[in-house]
Amino acid sequence: MTIALPLAPDFGSPVDLAPVPEVLTFLARRRSASAVSLSEPAPSAEDIDSLLRLATRVPDHGKLSPWRFVLFQGPEKTRFADRLEALAQARGDATAAAKLAKLRIPPLAIAVISTPKAASIPQWEQELSAGAVCTTLLYAALAMGFGANWITDWYAYDAEAGALLGLTPGEKVAGFLLMGTPREAPLERERPNVAPLVSHWRDQA
Ligand SMILES: Cc1cc2nc3c(=O)[nH]c(=O)nc-3n(C[C@H](O)[C@H](O)[C@H](O)COP(=O)(O)O)c2cc1C
Repeated sequence: MTIALPLAPDFGSPVDLAPVPEVLTFLARRRSASAVSLSEPAPSAEDIDSLLRLATRVPDHGKLSPWRFVLFQGPEKTRFADRLEALAQARGDATAAAKLAKLRIPPLAIAVISTPKAASIPQWEQELSAGAVCTTLLYAALAMGFGANWITDWYAYDAEAGALLGLTPGEKVAGFLLMGTPREAPLERERPNVAPLVSHWRDQA
């Protein structure tokens, strides 16, 4: 079922900042699905357009759009996994080959590529923006009712895999967002206790 998105506000127009309690409910309960539990139906072409529109509406210092997307579907996704498997086998790395199930099984994978630009904005901030794109893409897919998971795995960091992906110098994989419909509900996982993570700054002088 495709969910129609509202239009984005017109450039320069006041943006309605009314509370959205449903979003808070979603954030309190959202959960990634196991990649290997994902099957059809996957987001449609129209859903993917919506997801990418939402995912690129992220904080982006300097309006650089320092990210891009590579979509993997159908036989081309299988082909990509086959090429990675050949790499793993050539290295005698059975663990790496087995990890490819997470890419093979879900019907849709979207690679988010960090593409930092030569600009006064620090590279770190541009890479953080790519992480924000991944988070927003994940949350948007979950909010549409799909299952999704953000993984990296070895092929996000491997030079030969990067060449297969078409990475250019300076580009990095921020994540592979795997999407589909989960065959089973994910179990809740342990969540951090916030209190020990928080301090109040006091002037030590
Ligand atoms: C940058 C990044 C890379 C990740 N890579 C992997 C991975 O390769 N394999 C994996 O099992 N989980 C990976 N995870 C963890 C899952 O995306 C996810 O956090 C976990 O399944 C719990 O999901 P939830 O907190 O959204 O429910 C990664 C998370 C991040 C932020």
